[in-house]
Amino acid sequence: MTETTFTPRVFSGIQPSGGLTLGNYLGAIKRFVTMQDEVAESIYCMVDLHAITVWQDPKALQHNTRELAAGFIASGISPEKSILINQSQVPEHAQLGWIFNCVARMGWMQRMTQFKDKAGKNSQAASLGLFGYPALMAADILVYHATHVPVGDDQKQHLELTRDIAAKFNHDYGVDFFPMTEPVIEGAATRVMSLRDGSKKMSKSDPSDASRINMTDNADTIAKKIRKAKSDADALPSEVKGLEDRPEARNLINIYASMADMTVDQVLANVGGKQFGEFKPMLADLAVAKLSPISGEMARLMSDPAEIDRILAKGALQAREITAPILQKTYDIVGMVRPAI
Ligand code: AMP
Ligand code: TRP
Repeated sequence: MTETTFTPRVFSGIQPSGGLTLGNYLGAIKRFVTMQDEVAESIYCMVDLHAITVWQDPKALQHNTRELAAGFIASGISPEKSILINQSQVPEHAQLGWIFNCVARMGWMQRMTQFKDKAGKNSQAASLGLFGYPALMAADILVYHATHVPVGDDQKQHLELTRDIAAKFNHDYGVDFFPMTEPVIEGAATRVMSLRDGSKKMSKSDPSDASRINMTDNADTIAKKIRKAKSDADALPSEVKGLEDRPEARNLINIYASMADMTVDQVLANVGGKQFGEFKPMLADLAVAKLSPISGEMARLMSDPAEIDRILAKGALQAREITAPILQKTYDIVGMVRPAI
């Protein structure tokens, strides 16, 4: 079979299941912004259907979806250059998701570490949606024939599964219809760790607010959290090798490098030999300088939620021009009857 060439197209999503963290920003959104200029078409999505795989208060879900859209726009994603949507307004995601539920195998899903982490000890009480989550994620991506997906390191396994689903579909139906999507996991901060524990991912669901920087934190809070961040008593090294076995130091350096658009080597060349007492205020100043304009703009956008809703409605219309034909073609391949056009 000859390989089809797919036009480069970027897709990524974030769950509106709480506020945005510095991990989301550095691991994902910052890359979304650069990619919207590098690739002709980019689609960025608030995955509200994914969010309800665990309980969400309806009012909070609405608020968080709009706030996430505001976060995307305030970070530099332009609704003129990218298509900005919430997943539930583009029904083809869920429709293709069902087909993929029938392609993915139980054994594949059982290996997903995010399910194991989120379901915890009592997996029997987890929703069926939480288990099937990665099949819907594959549909999010493949319903656009997306070729590149920028994400943080924790999503690597889900993207491998996306490729497995595409390959099995293509193989079972004897077609070359879905592309093999490339994960884009790049930069100094693909895995931002908790400020309280360098072995744990920074997460919006961590019970300790001091463990993360929220995109809505004010300058004082950001500075205080960085000052209190766990570190160690040694001076910073001048070379990367010196960060081995120092997870907290490595995390703070990675955060600095990503925010300053520098490599870790460049940062260490400047700060090697300094104590944390000196480095932390530098990091806090940089974080405040980068994040304050974003949180200010988010607050401004949130004062007009109707405008955000208009942007998402327009995004959904643009998105469906891509997704509807791909879903119809999928239905044809699978053998679903529909009226002849
Ligand atoms: P989520 O908030 O789980 O929907 O994640 C949205 C995006 O942010 C995904 O691409 C994640 O990989 C990324 N992300 C979330 N937390 C972190 C983190 N601590 N470090 C780097 N990327 C992250
Ligand atoms: N699973 C992703 C997360 O938890 C969110 C997500 C859903 C996503 N669908 C996607 C990311 C499609 C990239 C592409 O972070």
